[in-house]
Amino acid sequence: MTDHLTVADDGATRTITLHRPEKKNALTQGMYLAMSEAINSAQDDAAIRCLLVTGCPGMFTAGNDLEDFLKAGTADPGKPRESNAIKLLHALANNAKPLVAAVDGIAVGVGTTMLFHCDYVLASTAATFTTPFIHLGLVPEAASSLLIPRVIGHQRAFATLVMGRRLTARDAREAGFVNDVVEPDQLEAEARKVAREICALPAEAVAISRKLIRMQPEVMIERMNLESKLFGERLRSEEAVNAFRNFLARKKG
Ligand code: COA
Repeated sequence: MTDHLTVADDGATRTITLHRPEKKNALTQGMYLAMSEAINSAQDDAAIRCLLVTGCPGMFTAGNDLEDFLKAGTADPGKPRESNAIKLLHALANNAKPLVAAVDGIAVGVGTTMLFHCDYVLASTAATFTTPFIHLGLVPEAASSLLIPRVIGHQRAFATLVMGRRLTARDAREAGFVNDVVEPDQLEAEARKVAREICALPAEAVAISRKLIRMQPEVMIERMNLESKLFGERLRSEEAVNAFRNFLARKKG
């Protein structure tokens, strides 16, 4: 259990809210696990017709907790890496319920890559999207190496995923992974409206059609597992460990 994430069912919508504002909603192992459980437990629940993921005002998430990355990167190399992140990624790949995201403020790392598993994304005018994996000595995850170029094209994917360039909400809408850009104070209401619209559709026809237009889960999972192996190796690299230390030292200085 974690206090940093809430799950609330309202009508046929399950809302998952990231809530660790003191650390910009950086994702802990507990948050990954709770989010994967919230998604997995909805799968066989006919009463849930839509999932909505959101954060706090001004922050969707700052991505994986960098202290956790440092711990993983400096752990005993003889021990296998244990991470609940892969549980969340598999839950996203296997998820059969429509998934809506409402993003205000920062969406860093997995905060951006998870959006490519969503069916409808709303962003506030204050939203920004960054995937600084390479700056951290890492590689892309969440099957983003497959999904992002497919959605936004190779050149934009290179600038985003490899060069770590930041996208604004408008850039993201133009790139094709954000549906609507709204004022921050309208975000929640607009996201709920979209969720209600989805919930009102015939659920079986939605599920079949969604499956037809999505990439097959097995293909995404195969890529996730490959990325995860490389990611695990990179976590232990000098480039990555130095980058984590620099970030954490910056905060102490
Ligand atoms: N992991 C752990 N802690 C994080 C974090 C992360 N990913 N992102 C932010 N925090 C913490 C900071 O250490 C700080 O904690 P402190 O007050 O105890 O020192 C607190 O959250 C506030 O962050 P701060 O950097 O002061 O906020 P900011 O508004 O100036 O900058 C970010 C926000 C997101 C731009 C900046 O925190 C950042 O770059 N974070 C790292 C993002 C990242 O690389 N994520 C991994 C992606 S793979």
